Amino acid sequence: MSIEPRPLRSRRSNLAVPGSNPKMLEKAKGLAADQVFLDLEDSVAPLAKAEARKNVVAALNEGGYGDKVRSVRVNDWTTSWTYRDVIEVVENAGTNLDCIMLPKVQTADQVVALDSLLTQIEKTMGFEVGRIGIEAQIENALGLINVDAIAASSPRVETIIFGPADFMASINMKTLVVGEQPPGYDTGDAYHYILMRILMAARAYDKQAIDGPYLKIRDVEGYRRVAGRSAALGFDGKWVLHPDQVAAANEVFSPLQEDYDHAELTLDAYDYYTSAEGGARGAVMLGDEMIDEASRKMALVISAKGRSAGMTRTKSFEPPQD
Ligand code: GLV
Ligand code: MG
Repeated sequence: MSIEPRPLRSRRSNLAVPGSNPKMLEKAKGLAADQVFLDLEDSVAPLAKAEARKNVVAALNEGGYGDKVRSVRVNDWTTSWTYRDVIEVVENAGTNLDCIMLPKVQTADQVVALDSLLTQIEKTMGFEVGRIGIEAQIENALGLINVDAIAASSPRVETIIFGPADFMASINMKTLVVGEQPPGYDTGDAYHYILMRILMAARAYDKQAIDGPYLKIRDVEGYRRVAGRSAALGFDGKWVLHPDQVAAANEVFSPLQEDYDHAELTLDAYDYYTSAEGGARGAVMLGDEMIDEASRKMALVISAKGRSAGMTRTKSFEPPQD
């Protein structure tokens, strides 16, 4: 009962906004983040949860988020809040919302439960069934070992998100600075396995892979360095907690102009040379580089990222004159 394929959304920067803070809900509308997620979970105190639901509904219905992806993070299924979060937000603002983010996902069943609840609300309210997506946050060991099944659990799933703060706590990693290496681990990257595990699950099931927060919000260079690692692996974006991190995320997760131009050129050249007019060839030279079907696939990745980020090409392909 779901729509496929789901829209490809640009999510280079994913701005966390506490649902208990109406001023921040408003301010987020003017920031250049690709996505906002209005939080009902860990940035909202237990006594403020009920009020935060109301603030989030009001902010969504008031509009002003432009073409940003609008997500709401509900509380996880081990709490008593989840069902009310979902029902109150989706019944009252479901047409002004793109995704529900489910934190601390441990098993595929938890996603299926949210999918079923969303379907019931959509049917009851007369909303398009299946339109609202799900973002699944992986924040502990059980979630990570089940990540393949979680990614495959529902066609609504759009992203798999790494939640480093909760994750580090749950595995007893000896670090207090989220995003930085644990002191004493002086070789390699302590996050590499987790990031790759999430990335493989996301790619296997055609989902986006999103890196979580970097908490030293004044250290934009630190943010850039850590974001650069997950971007290099192939992640689609990263959380931002502060306006200063937004521009860094948008830059780090966009292809360089030069790479974007090259990707578009490769696609055009490959189309031309594989056509009857271009000689129906499978491997050809583009400048001093040999391109073939695998080059086309690599170019498609860069091109899709550039296009979804709204980039425009600065070079065009000219077929050779003879
Ligand atoms: C985010 O939710 C995190 O735990 O890092
Ligand atoms: Mg968390």
